Amino acid sequence: MAAFLKLFLLYFVSICFIISRCFGGDPYVNFQFVYSYKTLSPLGVPQQVIVVNDQFPGPLVEVVTNYNVVVDVKNKLDENLLVNWNGIQMRDDPWQDGVHGTNCAIPPKANFTYQFQVKDQIGSFFYHPSINFQRASGGFGPFIIGNRSIIPLPFPKPDADIVLMIGDWYTRDHKALRADLSAGKDLGMPDGVLINGKGPYQYNTTLVPDGIEYESIQVEPGKTYRFRVHHIGISTSLNFRIQDHNLNLVETEGYYTSQTNYSNFDIHVGQSYSFLVTMDQNASSDYYIVASARFQNESQWQQVTGVAILHYSNSQGKAAGPLPDPPNDFYDKTWSMNQARSVRQNGSASGARPNPQGSFHYGNINVTQTYIFQTLPPTTIRGKRGATLNGISFVNPATPILLADWKNVKGDYKLDFPSKPLTGHPRLDSSIIDGTFKGFAEIVFQNNDTVMQTFHLDGFSFYVVGMDYGVWTEDRRGSYNKWDAIYRCTVQVFPGAWTAVLVYLDNPGTWNIRTENLDRWYLGQETYIKLVNHEDKGTQFAAPDNVRFCGALANLQKENRASSINRNMKLLVILLSVVFIALVDLH
Ligand SMILES: *[C@@H]1O[C@H](CO)[C@@H](O)[C@H](O)[C@H]1NC(C)=O
Ligand SMILES: *[C@@H]1O[C@H](CO)[C@@H](O)[C@H](O)[C@H]1NC(C)=O
Ligand SMILES: *[C@@H]1O[C@H](CO)[C@@H](O)[C@H](O)[C@H]1NC(C)=O
Ligand SMILES: *[C@@H]1O[C@H](CO)[C@@H](O)[C@H](O)[C@H]1NC(C)=O
Ligand SMILES: *[C@@H]1O[C@H](CO)[C@@H](O)[C@H](O)[C@H]1NC(C)=O
Ligand SMILES: *[C@@H]1O[C@H](CO)[C@@H](O)[C@H](O)[C@H]1NC(C)=O
Ligand SMILES: *[C@@H]1O[C@H](CO)[C@@H](O)[C@H](O)[C@H]1NC(C)=O
Ligand SMILES: *[C@@H]1O[C@H](CO)[C@@H](O)[C@H](O)[C@H]1NC(C)=O
Ligand SMILES: *[C@@H]1O[C@H](CO)[C@@H](O)[C@H](O)[C@H]1NC(C)=O
Repeated sequence: MAAFLKLFLLYFVSICFIISRCFGGDPYVNFQFVYSYKTLSPLGVPQQVIVVNDQFPGPLVEVVTNYNVVVDVKNKLDENLLVNWNGIQMRDDPWQDGVHGTNCAIPPKANFTYQFQVKDQIGSFFYHPSINFQRASGGFGPFIIGNRSIIPLPFPKPDADIVLMIGDWYTRDHKALRADLSAGKDLGMPDGVLINGKGPYQYNTTLVPDGIEYESIQVEPGKTYRFRVHHIGISTSLNFRIQDHNLNLVETEGYYTSQTNYSNFDIHVGQSYSFLVTMDQNASSDYYIVASARFQNESQWQQVTGVAILHYSNSQGKAAGPLPDPPNDFYDKTWSMNQARSVRQNGSASGARPNPQGSFHYGNINVTQTYIFQTLPPTTIRGKRGATLNGISFVNPATPILLADWKNVKGDYKLDFPSKPLTGHPRLDSSIIDGTFKGFAEIVFQNNDTVMQTFHLDGFSFYVVGMDYGVWTEDRRGSYNKWDAIYRCTVQVFPGAWTAVLVYLDNPGTWNIRTENLDRWYLGQETYIKLVNHEDKGTQFAAPDNVRFCGALANLQKENRASSINRNMKLLVILLSVVFIALVDLH
């Protein structure tokens, strides 16, 4: 069956290859994703998990820079679904972003075809369900964009890729967790950490019950592997380490870093990293791969530890003994921040484009506007629990913003999101940012909450120029890294601290700005930025043929309309007809 599917995919890809070659276009790759439930017991307790094509985590999407990706998503869940492609920039195409504020959800039994180009992108990303707290039950998977043949990697080609999806996990499913949040409760300590959808190896019989399936990574001595590690969890920062092995950090979310060895690395919710790991040990036994809860009292949070196995083909036996130590810095808050600050770009490496990454001199560009986003601990707003950004807990408008703009639905949302924290009572609102297209913005995330947070911007990457404890003030600009700041799309903001990023707002559309912490996000800690290219009088916000309608435009939605055949198929039919006519002509 799998072989047949592969063959089919190959066939499809090759046809598209041939056709697009003739016309000088970029190749198309097609995927079919079926979202459904399955009972699994990753921590030994049966629970309902969201699988994609029966897999948990979902299947790997692997393409090359500039490919066109077509994914037909079928929703076999019992509730609405939207798939967000975390880190894929959807250049000029916000309709494919898959977030609630701009796209209508895919209702149960329906399907929707996402089609987008991974324009000028390279690196390690992931997809995940973006609504209803579903990511806490699964539905996520890795998304790799490889290098084009004309652009070499800035390191020797690794012998193979190994994807690890790590995250904190509850044995309650997303509906139960959602109910707790809606009832104003905290979620409490997670029940564990999963690595590739599996529970911990039984490194300690007191802490890990019998019969849990764990992840085991098979390697060859002497080889070097590229570990692509994604934190797709809920809210717990994790420390990642491989016993007795160096982690050579080479990439963060699509940008090559200045290569640096770490013995362990802090990964926060929603972040992605690539590490080169050389199998340079003597294989006297297997080795532990660990992802353990960070910034928590370890004696109480011991069970919130993911453990997988690194197995050399010549291994002499099982891993035994204690796990490798986490950083011993419970009282030293600067260690982790210094590690984050040590992540720099490699300016001479080429990324998705042939020119070196460092050729964009972001430090010389004048900032056109500054936004300060302050987060506070969740609070009660009009009787409901909410988490705020600048005093506003976001309410998704009934009609998604892009649709409302396209079809002139008035009064759906407000363009009044404040560029500084509001004083006064927090409120619930559909407020978004009226951004300046091609502006060069400075965004300061000020975390006045009590928990570690990560912030993500759809549609863009940004330069992480500063990070420090205390309250940000304008004079902190003097401390910015204007030379080799890393460029990425998901950044940590320590509690009681700030993180400053610079971003060139050159992607027209309306884009989500959110915390990646699922609970805060669910409680409204997000907004959107709207960027209109006033010089483009054309179709910049025209919807694709298969757009879904909802809200004030729900009556326009017809299930399984003929026009829902995806654009790619149409193109194929047209091209085949052209070829046919041409052949007939010749004779
Ligand atoms: C949904 O799936 C059906 C059957 O697989 C297909 O014929 C149809 O084109 C799909 N619709 C969309 C919107 O992708
Ligand atoms: C990526 O670059 C490596 C060399 O750095 C090369 O071996 C490989 O073929 C390239 N990938 C593609 C898809 O061309
Ligand atoms: C297993 O964990 C328990 C609880 O932390 C600890 O007391 C015990 O020493 C550990 N056992 C081994 C063999 O390390
Ligand atoms: C990093 O570690 C690897 C393997 O442990 C070693 O070969 C390499 O030289 C180190 N690189 C640096 C920059 O220290
Ligand atoms: C393998 O390495 C370990 C740790 O460095 C060391 O304790 C052990 O003696 C070595 N075993 C062999 C057979 O070289
Ligand atoms: C962690 O919790 C244990 C048990 O509750 C307590 O004894 C210990 O003091 C705590 N450690 C820290 C660093 O707070
Ligand atoms: C930077 O990239 C170049 C390739 O352009 C590579 O040769 C070099 O080793 C990289 N340096 C670091 C520190 O990552
Ligand atoms: C940036 O602003 C300074 C001072 O306002 C001005 O002198 C300079 O020309 C500007 N630079 C650019 C690239 O616009
Ligand atoms: C939040 O801000 C207030 C006032 O600026 C400050 O006193 C307090 O320490 C901050 N709390 C955190 C967790 O940052």
